[in-house]
Order: sequence, then structure tokens, then C-alpha cells
Amino acid sequence: MNVPHKAAGTGDAGRVASVMQEDRLFPPPSAFSQRARIGSLEEYRRLYEAARTAPASFWDERARALPWMRPYDTVLDWQPPDAVWFRGGLTNASAACLDVHLAAGRGEKTALVWVGEPTGERRTLTYRELHAEVCRLAAGLSRLGVKPGDVVSIYMPMTPELVVAMLACARIGAVHSVIFGGFSSEAIADRNNDAQAVAVITADGGWRRGAKLPLKANVDEALTKSPSVRHVIVLKRTGQPVSMTAGRDRWWHDVVDGMPCDTPPAAMDSEAPLFILYTSGSTGKPKGIKHTTAGYVLWAKTTAEWVFDLRDDDLFWCTADCGWITGHSYVTYGPLAAGASILIYEGAPNAPHEGRFWEIIEQEKPTIFYTAPTAIRSFMKWGMQHIEGRDLSSLRLLGTVGEGINPEAWIWYHEVIGGTRCPIVDTWWQTETGGIMMSPLPGCTPTKPGSCTLPLPGVVPEIVDAEGRPVEQGQGGWLVMNAPWPGMLRGIWGNDERFREAYWSRVPGKYLAGDNARQDADGYYWIMGRIDDVLNVAGHRLSTIEIESALVSHPSVAEAAAVGRPHEVKGEAVAVFVTLRGGEPNDALKDALRKHVRHQIGALAVPDDIHFAAALPKTRSGKIMRRLLKDVAAGRETVGDTTTLEDYTVLATLRGNDE
Ligand code: PRX
Repeated sequence: MNVPHKAAGTGDAGRVASVMQEDRLFPPPSAFSQRARIGSLEEYRRLYEAARTAPASFWDERARALPWMRPYDTVLDWQPPDAVWFRGGLTNASAACLDVHLAAGRGEKTALVWVGEPTGERRTLTYRELHAEVCRLAAGLSRLGVKPGDVVSIYMPMTPELVVAMLACARIGAVHSVIFGGFSSEAIADRNNDAQAVAVITADGGWRRGAKLPLKANVDEALTKSPSVRHVIVLKRTGQPVSMTAGRDRWWHDVVDGMPCDTPPAAMDSEAPLFILYTSGSTGKPKGIKHTTAGYVLWAKTTAEWVFDLRDDDLFWCTADCGWITGHSYVTYGPLAAGASILIYEGAPNAPHEGRFWEIIEQEKPTIFYTAPTAIRSFMKWGMQHIEGRDLSSLRLLGTVGEGINPEAWIWYHEVIGGTRCPIVDTWWQTETGGIMMSPLPGCTPTKPGSCTLPLPGVVPEIVDAEGRPVEQGQGGWLVMNAPWPGMLRGIWGNDERFREAYWSRVPGKYLAGDNARQDADGYYWIMGRIDDVLNVAGHRLSTIEIESALVSHPSVAEAAAVGRPHEVKGEAVAVFVTLRGGEPNDALKDALRKHVRHQIGALAVPDDIHFAAALPKTRSGKIMRRLLKDVAAGRETVGDTTTLEDYTVLATLRGNDE
């Protein structure tokens, strides 16, 4: 099987050699185009030019659909790197997702269909019911003393209440910080501390492959190290025993008991922070990416409508967990602001069997399915026997996100899941961009497997070298954005300097995405992987330095280097090289190191390969030669291999000038 064409190698001046050639072109099916919101390339180009040449009037027209409690004075004030969208306006993100639909007489429409991991569990909520749940929790939070601007951490399983918790925070102007349920107590404590969270919303546990995750126990441990948290709200999900600390911990059902179903939404400034979401950067400390209210919601809604061509009768299944940006923008805010019906599923795709997703599609009949390439590669591996005989005919549109999709997986997705009738939208974007930036529009853009095709209206990308000069067409380089867009990040929580340094300093005045890309002769974009020390494992960003710091905090480890190596399902796997200060380089120590990383960061960062080395190959100036380690990691895929790296150390000495 092919692996994604990601790491094509970085050239010296930011230029990148491309090794990818993919000529197949798939025009949108005419039946799809005829009914689509944007049905021709002419229409796309008209929108694109309007947004590029007159962004203020373009976004003004669209922003009118948001519920304004006070109209804004200006559409955009852009003082790079600071953008103020809709200055002076007052609005509310939960009102944009709920109240507008009730006011329009659409309260009885299904907002959410939920399928639990244990077979047979299912719930639906209309917009009116979702609104009521949000209002009750919002009132409960206010009664506990949570105020506008306070940060609330959310550490929950994928239940309807996770969506309710996000919207309830938004309703009272509290800033939510969702922490993926797979993170460890250490990671929760770090995030609580960085954001100075005042409350945590969690559950007793959550289902994952038939087991119960100890969510509340993890929060308890985290709170021994994060003293800012005064309140814990606990949803009863699995019924597993938990300890409740008097005065601090309350059951969700007690908090909402007797609360009103019509809590008014707080009037929030357009630029009031809506949420923080932590993501890996190239240093050891996760960055709290800050998104604000009006611009983010407008971007999530508009891009959801364009890219997923949302219609009133659609049921949209985005398989992402709300712990990631995809779950923020395309489970919660985008589709709900657009008034769509969403499908969410609590558990793993292989629980209780490897055909679970297809069973759900057959039963619930979603029309749009949006998932990650790593999941698609798992489905391919699990085999046709789980898909054959399943009725997937409800699907009309497929999407991918999180990493590049290799053409082989694209074609499989197109043929096997899409029955060759569904367009595929390969969507490129980031936690920082708030929503999709580059993607085919399914009714008009001919697709090429592996390319995210063209920028959406409002997105002005460019590919430059390290001096900020545009590279020639066809040449790889750094992907930057030349213009502000409503969904862009407004900062890193509590660290303005890092915000400027990470995104705006290397190419002054332009947003540096941190990805390499190239543009082909048709103007299509091809993403070529990260330029920084960030891995993309199963569609999730992991910082190599974070993993290294976790390893060296183990008493046996002297030095550690983490690199990515190609992996047929996950895209990239984590390979680490460690030198020891004590202990035996054996399998027991490998197990201990894996446990240690799991404890420090979480299961997703656990190294796939651990190589013990007598020394790490370094340049004369002491820099670890990552390129060399990457070669070694890619060439030796056996997990049990304990060969030391002495030979490579010699090689490194020989190549000592290779910085
Ligand atoms: O490297 C790109 C890759 O994922 C990174 C963003 O990761 P994160 O902030 O976790 O958000 C993931 C979900 C939006 C990008 O810098 N990436 C994301 N989508 C694609 C992609 N790489 C290639 N093709 C994509 N469609």
C-alpha cells in the first residue's frame, strides 16, 4: 500500500522537491451539480473574486444571517497580525446555532441523532430540545458563579451532552476548552493551569471499545495539580463508581434540575473569546489556540454550507470527536449554525465489530460522511467483508480531513463507500484557521486524488521560499495566507509573543501555516507535509519535543529524539531513539517508557517504535540529526529491534558538517 506523499523532504531555502504526479481528474456528477448551492466554476470564481476584491461587503452580506443584539460598526480592521471582525457588534454563538432556528419556526427539526457505542443506544434531539438542554446547563453554570470570560474545561465522551456543554458555555459567555477524552491527567492539569480554568465538565466515564474510560478519575488526579478549578460537573454516563468531593463536585442532573429552559443568551462582543483549543506546536508546551465569537461562527457556518452543500434534508455525519477542531467546527458550530441535522457516534469504528460505521450508515441513513484518511486506511485493511451487503445508498457526499489522502485510499473511498456517485471533498485546514480553507466545492470543482484543489472564497494562499518570495509554479515551498479571513485564530492564550513568532515573523505580515505545498499547472494545491517538528499521527498533531520531554522525564532516560516514520494506516508513526542513564535496554524498559508517555501525554503519543542507542547522531554543533534518524526509523520497522545506533553515530561523525 502507498503511504501519503507527505514528507517529500525540505530543501534549503524553504523550497521542496515534489515527487508526486497524479493526473486523474474526476468532474462532479452532473446530477449533483444541478442541485448544488454552487453549481459551476463560473459561480465559484465570481464568489472568489468578490471576496478577494471587496472583502468587507462580501462578509457584511453574509454576517447579516447571524443574530445581532447590536449591529457592528465595521466589518474588518486589519492591523497584521491582529484582525478585528465585526467591531462593536454584540452576538452570541449559541443563539446563532439554536435561537435563530426556533425563531424561524424550525424548532421541531432534528438537530442531533446520537448513537452510543453499546449497541442499541440511540437518542435524538430536536432544535427545541437541544436549546432547552443548553439553557438549563447555562443557567446551572451561572448559578455556580461561572461568569463571562471564565474558562471551563470540558473532558467528556462523545455524547449529546458534550455539544450541550460547549453551547452552554457559549450561551453565558464562558470560554470553553475541550480536552480530548484520550488525554491523560497530566495533560488535563497543564491545560487547566495554562487557561486558569474555573470549572471542569466531565462524565463518570465513557465507552471505548467496550471498556469504560476513567474520565472522572483522571480529572480527580489532574485537580491535585490544577488548583484554579472550583467546580466539577459530572455527567452520569456509564454508571461506574466515582468519588465525589463535597463542595466541588456535582452531578450534571443535579446542576440542571429545576433550571429554566429559556435562559437568554449573553450579549457578547464579536471579538469575545469563544473557545481555546490546545494543539501541538514545535515546542514542548501545547499552544492554546484562541478563537473569537462572530468571525469564527460565520466562517464555520459559511464553509459548512459551501463545502458540504448542506440542504434541509441532509443528515451530516462528521466522525471527529469534539476534542479536536474538526468536532468544534463541523460537529457543533458549522452545521448547527447552518440549521442542519447532525449524526454523532460515541465510540470506536471497530466496536463491537469492524463494520460498525457501515451498520450505522445503513440504519441512520446519513447523506454526508466526513472522516479522516487514517480511518479510511483502517477500513481498507479490515476488508470488504464488513462492507459488502451493507446499504450505503443514502450517501451523496464524502469528505476527508486531517492529513493528505493517498490516491489509493481516495480511489477506494470513491468506489467502495461512494459507489462512484459521491464527490469527495479533501479539505485542508488547521486548528488555527477555524474552518476549511482549501477544498473542492462538490458541485463544481473537478477533483484530483490527493489534492485539496482550490482555496475557498476569502482565502488567499501563496507559496513562498524562506525569504518570502513567491516560488515558481510547480515548485514546493511554504504555504502562507496573504489576507485575513473571519475564522482565523486571534492569538495563543496568554502568549502574544509566541503567536507572533510562530505564525507571523518568518514571513512578515503573512500567516505561516507551517505546511509545505505546491501548486500545479491548473492552480490546484498539493499539501506536502509540515515544515516544523510536528508529526501527524492518525490525523492528529503531535510535537516531537513534547514526546521527547516526556521521555527524558523518565529516570532511565538520558536523551531522546522522536521522529515520524511512514505508517500504512496512521500516515505517520512515532519512532523514538533513547540513550539510557540507567536500566537495561530490554522489552520491559520499552513497556515502562510507553506507559510513561501514556501517563504524561496520553495514548495517542505512545511511541510505536523504541530504539535504544548508545549515542544519538549529532552534528558538531550538537544538533540531533533528525534526517538521519528518520531514515533509520523508516528502514527498521520491527518494534522488537534493539540494535544500537553506534554504526550511525560513526556515520554521523563522517557527515559532521551536514547541518
Ligand atoms: O499538516 C496539515 C494537516 O493537518 C495539519 C493541521 O492539523 P490540526 O490543527 O490538528 O487540524 C486537523 C483538522 C483540520 C495541517 O497543517 N492537514 C489537515 N488537513 C489536511 C492536511 N494535510 C493534507 N491534506 C489535508 N486535507
